[in-house]
Amino acid sequence: MNMPQQVLLRDAMRQLNMTRDAFAERIGSRRRALDAWLLPDESNEFRAMPEVARRFVSEILASDGRRGEYTQSAHEGALRKSMAVEGSLHLLSVSQFNRDAIDELFHLADVMQPIARRRKVSRVLEGAVLANLFFEASTRTRVSFGAAFCRLGGSVCDTTGFTFSSMAKGESIYDTSRVISGYVDAIVVRHPEQGSVAEFARATNVPVINGGDGPGEHPSQALLDLYTIQREFSRLGKLVDGAHIAMVGDLKYGRTVHSLIKLLALYKGLKFTLISPPSLAMPAGIVDAVSRNGHVVEIAATPAQGLAGADIIYATRIQKERFAHDEVLEGFDNAFEINRALVESACKPDVVVMHPLPRDSRPGSHDLSVDLNNDPRLAIFRQTDNGIPVRMAIFATLLGVDKLVSRSMRDAAWTPPSHIGPDDSTFHGLD
Ligand code: NCD
Repeated sequence: MNMPQQVLLRDAMRQLNMTRDAFAERIGSRRRALDAWLLPDESNEFRAMPEVARRFVSEILASDGRRGEYTQSAHEGALRKSMAVEGSLHLLSVSQFNRDAIDELFHLADVMQPIARRRKVSRVLEGAVLANLFFEASTRTRVSFGAAFCRLGGSVCDTTGFTFSSMAKGESIYDTSRVISGYVDAIVVRHPEQGSVAEFARATNVPVINGGDGPGEHPSQALLDLYTIQREFSRLGKLVDGAHIAMVGDLKYGRTVHSLIKLLALYKGLKFTLISPPSLAMPAGIVDAVSRNGHVVEIAATPAQGLAGADIIYATRIQKERFAHDEVLEGFDNAFEINRALVESACKPDVVVMHPLPRDSRPGSHDLSVDLNNDPRLAIFRQTDNGIPVRMAIFATLLGVDKLVSRSMRDAAWTPPSHIGPDDSTFHGLD
């Protein structure tokens, strides 16, 4: 079966590390034509790519591409290797990844897009069962992992909180992990202690995914964040290499920023501006490692001082639940609120505003403001939507069905709304 044109084109731009403009020039077409070829099939502006252009892109990839997607045999790619931890497959940390593995994962996420957009269905994971073990609060991570597994044909068992789990009776991580492994084929764990999910993984040969271990890591979030950054940049004609990323808020306890900055450090020549109250600064070990990789890291006291020139604002919530009992929040005032007035006055016009969510929308929280909700620069819901294809790609890899997905797709029997959210029509064509 022919690879969908959107997957082929995105693969080509990733492998050649070219902006849309440079790539359009390389294949001798106009940028507008390339934009229309990249839109989802169901979009009104979508255009089919001429066969001659498809052949030309395939030839360029075969001669200049970094990776032999077309010759690579099943289960031998960088991605599967990156998931191997002590003889089993797990996703515990972003440090498992290199750029080839990321490219492979994002290729697979692109393949999943028609399923994530509810145009196609697949049953490659029919009969498989996922355990979602969440010992901390979660909405999107738990539901999107569950939905991603279901959309590949699997089923999900959920447990939430300590109170209703046997851990409240003093059961060890080892016992819980071994017991659950007898019931299911993959496990997602969120737990308040750093390192606890790796401990779960050591007690089982069933794939374990870290859904957040205290202030440690949140690798699937960082992967979907990077996927979002790449897709936003593709449209805006930018590359991750050389980008300026501003991270704002709780950089001490926020596991999403810990994982994201480490993942971005795999790219070249980035500039990071870290904006937080001094008591919530990014851990020095992470800053040192990123600087040693040749990136520029600057610290700014307020967003107004740090946002100039940024390509991405990545705002975060204050993680009050992780504060020591005598720890007080100081110096986090309304100067930290990312809102329309600040974006207009301090940022480049093509800045992209992101947040892992949830944002604290209560008065006085100074989190990302709702006044940007229908501004196309706000990417937070495109970001959450991207959680589905990226998590589907993670499951398909961990369970070894990645090569079967394309062939398994059938048309969906129902039609979803053309725009999922009430403000989404403003974002039409942002692909
Ligand atoms: C984040 C988390 O749990 O680390 N949420 C998420 O998974 N998208 C961020 C947060 O809770 O602030």
